[in-house]
Amino acid sequence: MEQPEINENILKPKPYVPGKPLEIFLQENNIPRCIKLDANENPLGCSPTVKDVLNNLDFHRYPDGGATNLRNLLAKGFKVNKDNVFISPGSNHIIDFINRGFLKPGNNAIMADKTFSLYKHATLRAGGEPKLKPLKAGNFNLTTMAKEINEKTDIIYVCNPNNPTGTALEKDKLLDFIKSVPEKVLILVDEAYMEYCEQYSTVIDKVLDFPNLIVMRTFSKMYGLAGFRIGYAISNARVIQTLYKIMAPFSVSAPALCAAYASLQDTNFVENTYRNNFIERKRMLTYYASKEWFTYTSQTNFIYVEIPIENIQMKLEKRGILIRSLKSFGFDNKSFRITIGTKEENSALIQALETLT
Ligand SMILES: Cc1ncc(COP(=O)(O)O)c(C=O)c1O
Repeated sequence: MEQPEINENILKPKPYVPGKPLEIFLQENNIPRCIKLDANENPLGCSPTVKDVLNNLDFHRYPDGGATNLRNLLAKGFKVNKDNVFISPGSNHIIDFINRGFLKPGNNAIMADKTFSLYKHATLRAGGEPKLKPLKAGNFNLTTMAKEINEKTDIIYVCNPNNPTGTALEKDKLLDFIKSVPEKVLILVDEAYMEYCEQYSTVIDKVLDFPNLIVMRTFSKMYGLAGFRIGYAISNARVIQTLYKIMAPFSVSAPALCAAYASLQDTNFVENTYRNNFIERKRMLTYYASKEWFTYTSQTNFIYVEIPIENIQMKLEKRGILIRSLKSFGFDNKSFRITIGTKEENSALIQALETLT
């Protein structure tokens, strides 16, 4: 029997392994609630203003396809123009759009070996070759990445801070690297966790200095809007126009646009989230150090930790606590990424770990 042939590039990436959906975990275990520390979501929820603005929204209308208000607000905040701002249905789509716009089939994209897997997946899907360079001390090794650039390099990915190690690059080192990259190679800096950084090493303020730099961020983490699917990128107008040519019209929903617009203005919520994360991150790093478990010094809302207890993930699940195994990232089976929860959630985690050691 003949059947439609699937584009072979689509079959190349391994399926993305997400954290377990909350409702499925609760149903499977027949429990009313759990402590979800496996997907780097905001444990404080989202800004309370979001519910108010959604109450006043007409859901039968199409959204503003040009995302005018949100783009203007972001442009003002970052001191750029609206034409420098792209809004997408989750920042993960930006990675695919970038590939469709800038990666020629057979050419390559350079990235770290242990980082957010969608860079590799998107490269393979677009018929490109991912070039993976090992991390150095849990961070992107910019020196070896620079050496890997050749005439077939179209894109370079830098995840700063890196998922899943939580480490951040120094701003000066990153800027020196960006300056050294040929201008025909697009550099995507993924700053999904930048708002949690103590050493704020963003290069979002430098996008207009380079024709080949794009920085992306998300509303899923600090702003607690993961369920809405909304993210953004800042770059020069030529790159942004290219992304808008690729994305289907009305891809970002009206509720997502309104929720993001309201969230950006609620500085109290952002400050509370930062404070909770800052205090609890220190506490959890101190706890893991007291157990002599290896961690990287996180700048994010999660911690990479090596826990030498057999089947620890399953044992915690039985106690209603979800953490993320890093096997699918290429680490061994004692490596985990644990989101920083509320004070109460982290206390429950510590208590459970104490009973298991
Ligand atoms: C490093 C990094 N980039 C991008 C994303 C995608 O975020 P979203 O598609 O929710 O905006 C994530 C999500 O976990 C991430 O960890």
